[in-house]
Amino acid sequence: MKIIITGGCGFIGSNFIFYMRKLHPNYELLCVDKLTYAGNLETLAPVIDDPKLKFIHADIADRRTMYDLFKNEKPDIVVNFAAESHVDRSIESPAVFLETNVIGTQVLLDACRTYGIERFHQVSTDEVYGDLPLDRPDLFFTEQTPLHTSSPYSASKASADLLCMAYHRTYGLPVTISRCSNNYGPYQFPEKLIPLMIINALEDKPLPVYGDGLNVRDWLYVDDHCSAIDMILEKGKIGQVYNIGGHNEMRNIDIVRKIITILGKTEDLIVYVTDRKGHDRRYAIDPTFIKNELGWLPTTKFEEGIQKTVEWYLANRHWWQNIVNGEYRHYYERMYGNR
Ligand code: NAD
Ligand code: TYD
Repeated sequence: MKIIITGGCGFIGSNFIFYMRKLHPNYELLCVDKLTYAGNLETLAPVIDDPKLKFIHADIADRRTMYDLFKNEKPDIVVNFAAESHVDRSIESPAVFLETNVIGTQVLLDACRTYGIERFHQVSTDEVYGDLPLDRPDLFFTEQTPLHTSSPYSASKASADLLCMAYHRTYGLPVTISRCSNNYGPYQFPEKLIPLMIINALEDKPLPVYGDGLNVRDWLYVDDHCSAIDMILEKGKIGQVYNIGGHNEMRNIDIVRKIITILGKTEDLIVYVTDRKGHDRRYAIDPTFIKNELGWLPTTKFEEGIQKTVEWYLANRHWWQNIVNGEYRHYYERMYGNR
């Protein structure tokens, strides 16, 4: 089995490579990554010498390169993680989100159509469903919830999902889609809530909470996302969307407090800052379908996962210090300097 994993130098893609290496040591893995600000080849250092892993430095939106790759490598499966993934950046500069998330996905779909594929799996997000009100805890996103996006990021991901379904219906392409809730774990880029708060707290810097801090996200440990995708590849139904989540809804402020407690810091680090534009109130996945159809269940409880994650950032300072001291400094200044 030969699998192209796009975006394999990012947070979830790299964890997926580690996961697949362990679970299916015979699979050949081809990591295709443009190495944007969010991609870090150093992350793959533990597996880079593995003869069954190949790294290809390329842009998924580069049609010629993708076609050559598919022609030469003849992959069996594509798992598309490559994306611009940060909502705040999409509010600042939407164009690149369309380029990678929409055009990039379309180029991959065309490459699959031209050279053949057993499965194209699109890694999508619960954000395509928009948000839920805080005062209706009875409501959840199911696979039937209409798409209703808020940010340029979620709009670009929803567009890609629609293209995937269109290529399935029109050309019979064997597509599956997963829509997962917020992930956390090792190797997450420090712009996202959990690593940002861990790193700032470690350095006794202010912890910038957007708005009133009461927005709710549904958090899943990254390995549980990886195991769900692996199951979908093995026994998922072609043309099907699978929601992935573990019923772990938490308010942002409670996440921040949890990190403060684990690190033995104090709450005076918390600073409430101007809210994100169009900020989604609540995300909550109903994972009944994947549980009933494929028997998938998450295995890492939040208490355990957040502890492991904080410990990972403590033990891997060199990984995030390179980022925090580099180009990312300018982003941080732009985003939080006058907020
Ligand atoms: P990330 O930003 O950490 O990594 C993205 C990776 O894609 C990077 O390695 C980057 O270099 C690469 N990339 C970007 N543009 C590319 C291009 N044009 N060609 C090739 N490679 C390119 O993102 P992540 O958090 O790991 O998310 C991975 C996928 O999972 C995304 O599609 C995202 O929408 C989806 N997702 C993420 C979450 C989450 O909580 N992080 C939740 C649900 C779904
Ligand atoms: P984020 O990690 O960007 O994921 P997403 O917006 O895709 O869910 O943000 C998670 C939540 O945390 C979201 O409600 C915004 C909030 N947030 C803050 O309050 N402060 C921050 O500095 C960041 C990055 C996020």
